[in-house]
Amino acid sequence: MAKEDSILNLMLAHHAFIESLFLIFKDNLAGNPEAAPLALADFKNQLKKHFVSEEKAVFGFCKDKRDSELCRIVEILMKQHEMMMDMVNNIEIALSVKKETDSETLEKMLRIHRDIEEKELYPEIDERFGGPEKKIMIEEINKIVLEK
Ligand SMILES: [Fe+2]
Ligand SMILES: [Fe+2]
Repeated sequence: MAKEDSILNLMLAHHAFIESLFLIFKDNLAGNPEAAPLALADFKNQLKKHFVSEEKAVFGFCKDKRDSELCRIVEILMKQHEMMMDMVNNIEIALSVKKETDSETLEKMLRIHRDIEEKELYPEIDERFGGPEKKIMIEEINKIVLEK
């Protein structure tokens, strides 16, 4: 299998990118609160695209296979997406009214989520799907991520 046809490799890169945006936000929250809302908006925008790309381009294979082990993981991951977006929205609201907020719970959940995807989900998807199927997934992921 060609390296470029690995969903895991693509998602490792996405996760690293999102983490760097999160760290920029965290740094600003701690030392430069004026810039925190903008950094948060940047992070939120990419996080949202990432979630949409996973849900639309990858998790779709679970539509009619709800009972398989892998799809049970997908279900948990989708719930976590929702929870993390709620956390981000709550931080955003707190910042807008200058209320004290922290990013620790979100950071923990991001890490747990990323671990499940990188250690369980994506290696299994790389195993299970063939090159042509993965090529379609990768094209779809790239399309969503590049959308404005
Ligand atoms: Fe995810
Ligand atoms: Fe992810």
